[in-house]
Amino acid sequence: MNLKEFVQQKFTDLYGTEPAFIIRAPGRVNLIGEHTDYSEGFVMPMAIDRAAWLAIRPREDGIVSAYSVELDDRAEFDIGNLGEPGEGWGEYLKGVTWALLDEGHELSGWEGVLTSDVPVGAGLSSSAAIEMATAMAYTVLAGDDWNAAAMAKIGQRAENEWVGANTGIMDQMISASAVKNHALMIDCRDLSTQLVPLPEDTRVVILDTMSRHTHIGSGYNDRRAECEAAAKHFGVQFLRDLNKVELQKNVEGLDKTVLRRAIHVVSENDRVLQSMKAMQNQDPHIMGLYMNASHDSLRDNFEVTNRDLDLMAALAQETPGCYGARMTGGGFGGCVVALVKTDRAEAFANEVATDYANVTGLEPQIYICQPMGGTEVVKS
Ligand code: GLA
Repeated sequence: MNLKEFVQQKFTDLYGTEPAFIIRAPGRVNLIGEHTDYSEGFVMPMAIDRAAWLAIRPREDGIVSAYSVELDDRAEFDIGNLGEPGEGWGEYLKGVTWALLDEGHELSGWEGVLTSDVPVGAGLSSSAAIEMATAMAYTVLAGDDWNAAAMAKIGQRAENEWVGANTGIMDQMISASAVKNHALMIDCRDLSTQLVPLPEDTRVVILDTMSRHTHIGSGYNDRRAECEAAAKHFGVQFLRDLNKVELQKNVEGLDKTVLRRAIHVVSENDRVLQSMKAMQNQDPHIMGLYMNASHDSLRDNFEVTNRDLDLMAALAQETPGCYGARMTGGGFGGCVVALVKTDRAEAFANEVATDYANVTGLEPQIYICQPMGGTEVVKS
């Protein structure tokens, strides 16, 4: 049984009737362009074949009630009386509700079942998937068209202003607007996108180190603040506005750490644009070199890797069939993404998993994934 059938079955078990709508909202992996989104830079993620699935039917009383299969827990609230932010997974639903209300949307209630196979805490955007599923629930019940960029911004506001995580726009944007068989180059300044095909005969492999950093929140917010400090020093609004030449001038008086953060962002933006060209030219070798360089910069300049990520990336890079590998997502733990020759993908996954387990004693999760489309209603 696939997850669509599963969530449909669970809904029928609970409510004794068919759901009115089933929504799929995918997780994502970022191929390149890390820690650039909140400096209004470039990113190149793709949606993966792991997603949050939400089966719903409308309610007339303004209540939202969602049952999470994985957590065996129900989140329930009154749209007209959200109260203050609290703890737990229900806050993603509430945060989206709050942001939509704040922007003047008229919302009606619903109830249903949520299930997801996006691993939580691995850096594959399980929360953005839930946010976009929630945004789609309100959209479809209102009979509105899906406005991907607007709903991505709603999800980001939910994270920033309701949940209190100072994240950028990448995760929601790719979950909302991905296109099957493609990565998307997103300009995080104006949210314009360009479709980028994966090079032929390549697979994207995600290698979860299984290491999790508990201070991801503070580390992430520190990096953001350092990027803002660097932009201020150089007299630009965002690091996006700085080029390599300007970066070498006027460094006097700038804290060395802050300078390295700026070097990462400026060089990473460039790597995204170069990678896009490599992908368009069907050149996985060049793309892989940029991925490796991205990892080095995230390790040395941005300092968001940890020992496990560095080990996993190194093992992946030296395993036959691999064009390039790098940490993906916020960092401090989580996953490495690798671009691998299709006919080596399975063997690559097994070999890296064995090597990694031998060194760390940790059993990594490995996903050979397909680029999927963005958030959609799959049954109505
Ligand atoms: C997290 C955030 C994104 C982005 C990445 C780093 O996934 O949610 O907005 O900043 O980290 O690239």
